[in-house]
Amino acid sequence: MVNSTGLLGVVLLARHGDRLEFFQDPNTYTPTETYLTPLGSVQELQLGTFLRSQYLTPSSPSFISGISTDVVNINQISVQADAGGGGSVILNSVQGLLQGLYPPTTESNITLANGTTIVGPLGGYQYIPVDSIEPNVLPTLNSFTNCPNFNTHVSEFYASPAFLQEAQDAAPFLDALEPYLGGRSNNFTNMYNIFDYVNVQSVHNATFYKQLPPTFAAQSYYYANYHEYGVFSAPTPNGIGNIAAATLLPTIFTALQDITNSSNGLKIALTEVSYKPFISMFNVTQADVTDPDIAGIVDYASVVALEVYEDSNSRPYITMKFKNGTTETDYRQLSMFGNTTVYIDDFISQLAGSTINTTQQWCQACNQTSSWLSCNLLIGN
Ligand SMILES: *[C@@H]1O[C@H](CO)[C@@H](O)[C@H](O)[C@H]1NC(C)=O
Ligand SMILES: *[C@@H]1O[C@H](CO)[C@@H](O)[C@H](O)[C@H]1NC(C)=O
Ligand SMILES: *[C@@H]1O[C@H](CO)[C@@H](O)[C@H](O)[C@H]1NC(C)=O
Ligand SMILES: *[C@@H]1O[C@H](CO)[C@@H](O)[C@H](O)[C@H]1NC(C)=O
Ligand SMILES: *[C@@H]1O[C@H](CO)[C@@H](O)[C@H](O)[C@H]1NC(C)=O
Ligand SMILES: *[C@@H]1O[C@H](CO)[C@@H](O)[C@H](O)[C@H]1NC(C)=O
Ligand SMILES: *[C@@H]1O[C@H](CO)[C@@H](O)[C@H](O)[C@H]1NC(C)=O
Ligand SMILES: *[C@@H]1O[C@H](CO)[C@@H](O)[C@H](O)[C@H]1NC(C)=O
Ligand SMILES: *[C@@H]1O[C@H](CO)[C@@H](O)[C@H](O)[C@H]1NC(C)=O
Ligand SMILES: *[C@@H]1O[C@H](CO)[C@@H](O)[C@H](O)[C@H]1NC(C)=O
Repeated sequence: MVNSTGLLGVVLLARHGDRLEFFQDPNTYTPTETYLTPLGSVQELQLGTFLRSQYLTPSSPSFISGISTDVVNINQISVQADAGGGGSVILNSVQGLLQGLYPPTTESNITLANGTTIVGPLGGYQYIPVDSIEPNVLPTLNSFTNCPNFNTHVSEFYASPAFLQEAQDAAPFLDALEPYLGGRSNNFTNMYNIFDYVNVQSVHNATFYKQLPPTFAAQSYYYANYHEYGVFSAPTPNGIGNIAAATLLPTIFTALQDITNSSNGLKIALTEVSYKPFISMFNVTQADVTDPDIAGIVDYASVVALEVYEDSNSRPYITMKFKNGTTETDYRQLSMFGNTTVYIDDFISQLAGSTINTTQQWCQACNQTSSWLSCNLLIGN
C-alpha cells in the first residue's frame, strides 16, 4: 500500500525498565512488590528519545503530521500505565519514557501580567497526564490476576505432556543451577522466577555475575520463554491464556479510531505494561508465526508500534514494528496475519470476536464470582 498523507499517528505498547527481583506466584501470577532502578529509568528515557526521533522529528520518514514537536499538546497524546504487577515500576517507567519523548524545554514558559516570563521547573519540565490503571478498579492491563479460569489454564498447562517433557529436558540444567538460586525452588513450574533471579542478579550482583557459568543465563532465558509463552498464549485468540490481549485490544481499537478521526486530534496512544501483553499480542496477531524468535519475554524497555497511515483512497491501515529493548537501535518490521500492512477495519474485524470489552465480560470470562471488582453484583450470583 502506498501512503498518501504521511503518518497519522501511532499506538505504542512499551515495557518497563530494569528493576529489582520480581517474584510472581507460579500458579496465580500474584505479584510481589519490586522497584525500578536508575538503570531502568535511563532505559526508558532512551526509549522515549528513540520515539522522539521517529515521530516528533520533522526530517524522519515516520514524522506524525500536525503533531506538536517540542511543547506537548496534551490533547494529542493519551497515556495509560499498569499500576499492578509489582507496585510503582511501570508507572515510574512511563515517566522516564515521557521525559525522553518531550524533554524539558524553555519554550514551556508563560509570560505574566507584570511582564516576567516564567519557565517551568527543571529547565521547562513537561507534565504529561498518565492514567494509572489500578487492577482493583479496572482489569484491562492486569487481567490475568484474580482470574480463576486463567489459574485453571495455568495448571492445565503445567499438567500437559508438552510441559512435562520440557520440564524433563530442563531438569539436568535446573539441578546444576540450583546452588546459585539462593534457596529458591528449582522446580520447572517456578521457571519465571528462576529466570528473573538469574537475570536480576546478573545485572546487579558482581559476585553472582562472576560465579555463574557462562551459558546459564541464556539457558534460563530459553526455558522461561517456553514457560511464559505457554502461560500467556492460547491455541485460539479467544482462549483464556490470551486474556492479556483480550482486555488490551478494546483500548487499542478506540485509539486507532480516535487517531483516524480528524475531529478527535489524538496522535499518540501509549500503554506501559509488563512483558505479558506482548506475548499475547504476538500470538493473537500471528506476528510470531512469521517471526518465531519474538515469541517470549521481550527485553526491558521494548516497544511495539502500530503506525497508522492512509492509502490513496483515504482508507486507514496499520503496520506493526518492534524494538527489543535498548540494545537494538532501530525497529524491525513485523507482520500481522501474514501481512506487513493491514487495514484497520480488517484488524478490528479479525480480533473483535476475541476481546473482553467490559468488567462484566471479564468476570464472566474468568468465572470470577466473588466481590472482587464487584463481579458478584455484575454477573448476578
Ligand atoms: C518562551 O517560549 C517561546 C516559544 O513559545 C520562546 O520563543 C521564548 O524564547 C521562550 N522564553 C524563554 C525565556 O525561554
Ligand atoms: C511578577 O510576578 C511573579 C509571580 O508572582 C514574580 O515572581 C515576579 O518577581 C514578578 N516580577 C516583577 C518584575 O515584579
Ligand atoms: C513441581 O511442582 C509441581 C506443582 O507444584 C509438583 O506437582 C511437582 O511434583 C514438583 N516437581 C518436583 C520435581 O518437585
Ligand atoms: C550475590 O550473589 C552471591 C553469590 O550467588 C550471593 O551469595 C549473595 O547473597 C548475593 N547478594 C545479594 C544481595 O543478593
Ligand atoms: C498461539 O499459542 C499457542 C500455544 O498456546 C499455539 O498453539 C498457537 O500456534 C499460537 N498461535 C500463533 C498464531 O502463534
Ligand atoms: C470523532 O471525534 C469526535 C470528537 O472527539 C467525536 O465527537 C465523534 O463522535 C468521533 N467520531 C467517531 C466516528 O468516532
Ligand atoms: C531481545 O533482547 C534480549 C536481550 O538482549 C535477547 O536475549 C533476545 O534474544 C532478544 N529477543 C529478540 C526477539 O530479539
Ligand atoms: C493480506 O494482504 C492481501 C493484499 O493486501 C489481502 O488480499 C489479504 O486478504 C490479506 N490477508 C489478511 C489475512 O489480512
Ligand atoms: C466487543 O467489542 C467489539 C467491537 O469493538 C464487538 O465487535 C464485540 O462483539 C464485543 N464483544 C462482546 C463480547 O460484547
Ligand atoms: C465457577 O465458579 C464457581 C465458584 O465460584 C464454581 O462453583 C463453578 O463450578 C465454576 N464454573 C466453572 C465453569 O468453572
